[in-house]
Amino acid sequence: MRIYKVGGAVRDRLLGIPVTDIDWVVVGATTEEMLAKGFRPVGADFPVFLHPKSGEEYALARTERKSGRGYGGFTFHASPEVTLEEDLIRRDLTINAMAEDDQQNLTDPYHGQRDLEARLLRHVSPAFAEDPLRVLRVARFAARYAALGFTVAPETLELMRQLSESGELEALTPERSWKEISRALMEDQPQVFIEVLRACGALKVLMPEVDALFGVPQPPAHHPEIDTGAHTLSVLEQAALHKQPLTVRWACLLHDLGKGLTPEEEWPRHIAHEFKGLKLIKAVNERFKAPRDCQELAMLVGEYHTHGHRALELKPSTLLELLQSFDIYRRPHRFEEFIAACEMDARGREGLEQRSYPQADYLRGAATAARSIAVQPLLEKGFKGPELGEAIKRERLKALKAYKEQV
Ligand code: CTP
Repeated sequence: MRIYKVGGAVRDRLLGIPVTDIDWVVVGATTEEMLAKGFRPVGADFPVFLHPKSGEEYALARTERKSGRGYGGFTFHASPEVTLEEDLIRRDLTINAMAEDDQQNLTDPYHGQRDLEARLLRHVSPAFAEDPLRVLRVARFAARYAALGFTVAPETLELMRQLSESGELEALTPERSWKEISRALMEDQPQVFIEVLRACGALKVLMPEVDALFGVPQPPAHHPEIDTGAHTLSVLEQAALHKQPLTVRWACLLHDLGKGLTPEEEWPRHIAHEFKGLKLIKAVNERFKAPRDCQELAMLVGEYHTHGHRALELKPSTLLELLQSFDIYRRPHRFEEFIAACEMDARGREGLEQRSYPQADYLRGAATAARSIAVQPLLEKGFKGPELGEAIKRERLKALKAYKEQV
């Protein structure tokens, strides 16, 4: 039995990046031998085991063949005869298809090291096409390693284009897609993920609502970059630069979907795009079964982001409606995330990246004013039920009027 480190651990060590997860491949062993050594099997018919002490993944060297559509459509062949080279050739990228023994001797039959140096994300073999999720994986690696100068090799992009056109992407489960999307959005340059998906035609399949934003103009006075797709990418870029959480990044990506629905004769204006976009945001949310906090924030940011920008001009009653919609009394954190998304939207515009955003503090101040209303004195005055609700609202409105006058 020979054991090798494989995949990301080898790649990242060679890149000088800290390694967090280690995957191992075991050559020349049977399932029975692994079990006898105390390894715990991961799945019933998957030749992967967890180390009894470290908990790291050890996979028997295997070959894979696609036998049908989707992720279920695989047959595995794991046996002691499968060689390391045979295992490596079915992997996605050359930089992920290197192995290392305990002496750090590298096995690199598909020239991963050369591609690391050339900064190229290149597929190992036609077996790449056996798992369509790899289209998203490559885009995610492009986002992660963009700062190091990595790009997708033209022949790999071509293969990704063929896969996107083949209808295979539709067979991906929402869970697998979301895992890739959410990881990619948390990379340092998430906009590159979207760019690569667009370049190979996958964006049109996965998120046609986002793809439709490219080529749609906006008024140059507010949007010097003009193109709505370019703006969306810049907003995402700002969100990453400002280390925003996933919820905010997801909301940034989807905030302007309504602009893709504007009839051309109305361009470059987008009347009521906030409201029109909601059904599209809902559809994308549901397509990937995004977690509830991501779904909720995306809908709220979609509906109210222009309220955020106009915060200082809003009437106290509109301001109160905004605060109520966010349920700022029970969900203060969500309102902070809304403010952050609005700020990223304001900065994600050509030449305006450094602008100040006084709306942020103004909105925080308004929330504090509305929250300052205590219920107890109203109860003591005898208000109950719906009347109590009305009285609280009146007091909050008064507080907001005073706040607006004082700022
Ligand atoms: N792999 C693959 N195709 C997939 C998933 C994984 O070929 N769809 C292979 C690659 O060789 C990869 C290894 O399995 O390097 C481990 O996969 P995973 O842990 O998902 O990714 P890492 O490459 O370790 O990258 P990350 O740093 O993102 O975890």
